[in-house]
Amino acid sequence: MPDVLERLKVLFNSFNPLLVMETVEETRAVDLVRRAASDLSLPVFEWSIADGLQRSGAPVNPGPADPRRTTGVNNVNALLSQAGLPMVNIPPGMALPAPVGPSSMIVNTQSAPGVLAHIESMTTDAVFILKDLHRHLDDVVVVRRLRQVAQNFTRTRGTLVLTGPAVNLPDEVESLAEYVELPLPDAARLRKIIEETFGRLAQKQTLKCTLDPAGFDATAANLRGLTEEEAERTVAQVIVARYALSSAAVTDVLEQKKEVLRRSGMLEFIDAGAGLDSIGGLENLKAWLRKRQGAFEPDARGFGLEPPRGVVIMGVQGCGKSMSARCIAGEWKLPLVKFDSAAVFDKYIGETEKRIKRVFAVAEQLAPAVLWIDELEKVFAGSGPDSASSDAGVSSRLLGAFLSWMQDRKAPVFVAATSNNVTWLPPELIRKGRFDEIFFVDLPNAAERQAIFRLQLARRMQNPLVFDLETLIAASDGYSGAEIDAAIQSGLYAAYADKKPLTTQVLLAELKATVPLSATRAEDIARLRDWASQRAVHASLTDRAAAAFR
Ligand SMILES: Nc1ncnc2c1ncn2[C@@H]1O[C@H](COP(=O)(O)OP(=O)(O)O)[C@@H](O)[C@H]1O
Ligand SMILES: [Mg+2]
Repeated sequence: MPDVLERLKVLFNSFNPLLVMETVEETRAVDLVRRAASDLSLPVFEWSIADGLQRSGAPVNPGPADPRRTTGVNNVNALLSQAGLPMVNIPPGMALPAPVGPSSMIVNTQSAPGVLAHIESMTTDAVFILKDLHRHLDDVVVVRRLRQVAQNFTRTRGTLVLTGPAVNLPDEVESLAEYVELPLPDAARLRKIIEETFGRLAQKQTLKCTLDPAGFDATAANLRGLTEEEAERTVAQVIVARYALSSAAVTDVLEQKKEVLRRSGMLEFIDAGAGLDSIGGLENLKAWLRKRQGAFEPDARGFGLEPPRGVVIMGVQGCGKSMSARCIAGEWKLPLVKFDSAAVFDKYIGETEKRIKRVFAVAEQLAPAVLWIDELEKVFAGSGPDSASSDAGVSSRLLGAFLSWMQDRKAPVFVAATSNNVTWLPPELIRKGRFDEIFFVDLPNAAERQAIFRLQLARRMQNPLVFDLETLIAASDGYSGAEIDAAIQSGLYAAYADKKPLTTQVLLAELKATVPLSATRAEDIARLRDWASQRAVHASLTDRAAAAFR
């Protein structure tokens, strides 16, 4: 990333004492720092608790040709040219990391206080990369020394660079620090990574490359959203598994990517399945969404159309909110990523903001895409029964991060947010202008219940025509889609156990046996309707509020 490189140089040159690079990509961060420092002829020192402080080896600038490397590249290029592809040019620093060995450790620098004391005593202009120093920041001596070194460095061209997955600085040094972010790689960079990774692997084993240029592009596109290191690992695994880089890589990397994102614990990559036709009713919402289909195509922009930003779908539980959010991506044939609110909070309170930023970055890399935030109130209300409630500060910082991303995002990411309880939501979140529209989903009216019965029966291999739908619709007044679905499901169990076909009678018995939520939670629903009547648009065509309670 040339822009990060430039930024680093500016920061080194302008006497910045302390840089923080929060990333899991330590190798890449170190590589960038080395390159920036080498361009400015600044020496680089690296420290870790394992190896102490050492002078960095050869910088990453092209050095003398290494015979091993050259042979490797030539092999790869021979393969690539057979396949009619452009040759690759492997940056030397990538292929062979600069040698750093335990022998070159500077004495008395293994401990964190030790290394800082040593740096404090040095007078040379230099860049010091301190790896995972955040693990030692609960030591008061370390914090004090860090502060002293940083203060001294404001007057010299010395810079400390802290790398680590999550660096939370104490207040004493926070004001001296600049943060440098590593952006996620774009499609062009990812394509390079594929070529380079293949090149690197082909040095060690015989590999075939049968992927055509279009396949390279498609594979690169499917890697979007991963960090450089994740992409590299993903590609390597895919190549090694097949002893080749073939057209299968296009889909292989997608599978791998889903796994990587799932493990990172806050994003679920979902196969966009069914379209809007699988939803019963909610015709207003569906019409609104259909009107915006295609708005992400380049032509639309040429026509003067801004891509839609998102919807909030709020309302009664079990009436198809989550289902609708999911179906948007299916209908528009866009990738769908689901933001896992529970995982975002789960035990990483301190890192929540970083995680949410990663979510946005990934979504933008996938753009045009749909980002589904289910149960918005759990993320932003800060009053749920989960760990989030204990830290209202995190919730409000998260909200800040989310709002500013909604405002500034560059790539067309459509946010589909759902909520069961809007009264908990902060007003600034749902103020007009943030989202394109707020839809209210109520209990299904008669026409909608008919549609739901038809769809759900058909989905379960039942012919809707053999049922007395009129009777079922009347008997299911006040029932949600989920409750109707549950009645069909348990009716099927009952019928199957009795070795009889599913009948209207069986379904009626099942409906009778359940008390719908609208009866037990009538007050909650009334409150939702009241709220929605002022601020939201009905997702259904006709107003069905009144009839549902009788
Ligand atoms: N309008 C509907 N059309 C078809 N099925 C529905 C509808 N509403 C609810 N369902 C059924 O109920 C299930 C739960 O709905 P869901 O979308 O999760 O509700 P919520 O509004 O609580 O997010 C769905 O998976 C679907 O099977
Ligand atoms: Mg839901």
